[in-house]
Amino acid sequence: MGKTNTKSFKELTTLKVGGEIKYFFEVKNQKELVDKVSFAKNKSLTIFIIGGGSDIAVSDKNFEGVVIKYVGSSVQVIGNLVKVEAGMNWDKLVEETVNRNLQGIECLSGIPGSVGASPIQNIGAYGQELSETFIELKAYDISNQKFVIFKNEDCKFSYRESIFKRKDYWQKFIIVDITLKLKKYTDNNLELQTIRDEILRIRGEKLVNPDEIPNAGSFFKNPIINKSKKDTLLIKYPEMVIFPFNNEYKISAGWLIEKTGWKGKSLGPVKVSDKHSLVLTNPEGKGTFSDIKSLADTIIADVDNKFGIKLEPEVQYINL
Ligand code: EPU
Repeated sequence: MGKTNTKSFKELTTLKVGGEIKYFFEVKNQKELVDKVSFAKNKSLTIFIIGGGSDIAVSDKNFEGVVIKYVGSSVQVIGNLVKVEAGMNWDKLVEETVNRNLQGIECLSGIPGSVGASPIQNIGAYGQELSETFIELKAYDISNQKFVIFKNEDCKFSYRESIFKRKDYWQKFIIVDITLKLKKYTDNNLELQTIRDEILRIRGEKLVNPDEIPNAGSFFKNPIINKSKKDTLLIKYPEMVIFPFNNEYKISAGWLIEKTGWKGKSLGPVKVSDKHSLVLTNPEGKGTFSDIKSLADTIIADVDNKFGIKLEPEVQYINL
């Protein structure tokens, strides 16, 4: 049987906020997973699936349901195909593929969280996105109590989005493994390891390591605005950081937040990182969800007042 013990979301998330959990199970294979889902269903309890806990902000209320963490973490490499279980640490997987000279996810070095969480928000960094190498995943369908396969196109990937964030799919599927198709790397001038090292270095400079200072990565998405909005803003702010995105424009949320004066500022026990203003931190781990939510809402209101742009959280709010 899976391991059971009392836990709080505060212990299980990198932001270090969140209430106590009634039933917490770590499951290490598909059989244990099926058993724990039955357990929850027999008691009519809500199930919440947790991975590395690095992209969620959980309320301070106690959670009266079952939290399941899939911890199986085996990797199978067949040619250029890599099949890996959901419980593996994402960056460990990147390390392993780089060691095998397989190209395709090296720019995603240093992203916190588990492999199973990677498709949910279609993780991306430095011009690479999971969707580019993703073939399929296997998940347990909680409602129908059976295993199902989602191919790449079934996942409906877009910028930090997938079908698993949609209301009718959210928390309905427990991902047990994913399969990626990578390429043998052939560039003789540059090693994959060099690229990985450089990405880890840049991330170390700009982003905040959650093991040192609790945080959940980019708290907001970079907003997408249309051409007329972009043109109006550029007149007032010629130095604005903006990138073409499909037929529209992606504007840097970090820049917007910095311009409202929030970079490095605290509100109660929580703080906007002084390295990167997209990152909200809980420096001493003393802040609560409600502190984080107040800070996020204040930032959203201030950015809206100044620029007429509504920032959207990139992290998922849980158990509201
Ligand atoms: N910027 C500021 N002030 C700041 C931070 C950034 O002005 O405080 C400006 C900089 O001028 C920079 C631009 O914003 O040129 C973009 O910043 P950065 O390269 O750090 O990227 P980002 O768009 O802020 C995104 C992802 C990160 C990912 C990096 C690197 C989102 C929401 N975030 O950040 O992902 O690591 O690109 O590619 O798309 C995450 O999702 O948790 C995450 C960390």
